[in-house]
Amino acid sequence: MLQMIVSILIMAKTIGHPDCPMYTANRTSCFLCPPGYYKIRDCDENGTAASCMPCPAGTFQTSCSQATMCQPCDSYCPWFNSYIQANCTTTANLVCQCKPGYFFIDQGGGNGICKKHEQCPPGSGMSRPGTSMVDVLCSPCVSGKTYSNVSSSTQECQICSTCVSNVISPCTPYRNINCSAAIMTLTDYQSQPASSVIIAM
Ligand SMILES: *[C@@H]1O[C@H](CO)[C@@H](O)[C@H](O)[C@H]1NC(C)=O
Ligand SMILES: *[C@@H]1O[C@H](CO)[C@@H](O)[C@H](O)[C@H]1NC(C)=O
Ligand SMILES: *[C@@H]1O[C@H](CO)[C@@H](O)[C@H](O)[C@H]1NC(C)=O
Ligand SMILES: *[C@@H]1O[C@H](CO)[C@@H](O)[C@H](O)[C@H]1NC(C)=O
Ligand SMILES: *[C@@H]1O[C@H](CO)[C@@H](O)[C@H](O)[C@H]1NC(C)=O
Repeated sequence: MLQMIVSILIMAKTIGHPDCPMYTANRTSCFLCPPGYYKIRDCDENGTAASCMPCPAGTFQTSCSQATMCQPCDSYCPWFNSYIQANCTTTANLVCQCKPGYFFIDQGGGNGICKKHEQCPPGSGMSRPGTSMVDVLCSPCVSGKTYSNVSSSTQECQICSTCVSNVISPCTPYRNINCSAAIMTLTDYQSQPASSVIIAM
């Protein structure tokens, strides 16, 4: 048992970290412990690494340090409608993210809420998709060119159809053109985003 502890200490003592700066303790310069480790003892010789041990399970240390304890991991994501995107490791706390369809509003000090993406009302369409960090951007449909008759956080304005025969009512931002006979479209216009439809004239 003692031998095991001694060999762990010897192993720990040799952990240098080329990317970690040095600090001075008792007029001796030591390398800081690397991320994921905590310090158990300063070094005895100038230019060697402090004695460091790996963070125990459930704790982490993100930077080079001479901290004598690792920090406890959060055990859950505190914001409503968020989930654990990455579990805690010895070098990073767990990572929380808003559920799909929600975005984060930072309220400072680690607090925040996950808010539902905006629904673009009829007459407007989604012009930039929402992410877990930013809301959807809605833009008005262009009269005579595009329309939307639905409330949606994902659907863009749709391209107005073209009448072969008489127009009963023109295309408005809220409603497609209404024709007295068949409408002429290349594709199923209702399911195509504005950017991917070409209307043959
Ligand atoms: C500081 O170093 C000296 C010798 O280098 C040693 O005798 C002394 O115990 C050390 N003090 C501490 C607090 O480590
Ligand atoms: C470490 O180096 C400094 C200056 O370079 C010196 O003053 C100090 O005594 C040295 N410490 C030891 C433990 O050798
Ligand atoms: C986190 O850990 C749990 C249990 O160990 C596992 O079920 C889950 O898939 C992990 N989550 C991620 C995002 O890695
Ligand atoms: C939108 O218009 C289409 C066809 O013009 C129709 O089938 C659909 O029911 C309308 N949706 C709403 C919510 O009004
Ligand atoms: C188009 O006009 C006809 C005749 O007024 C009407 O019955 C029909 O409901 C209209 N269609 C749409 C999609 O508004």
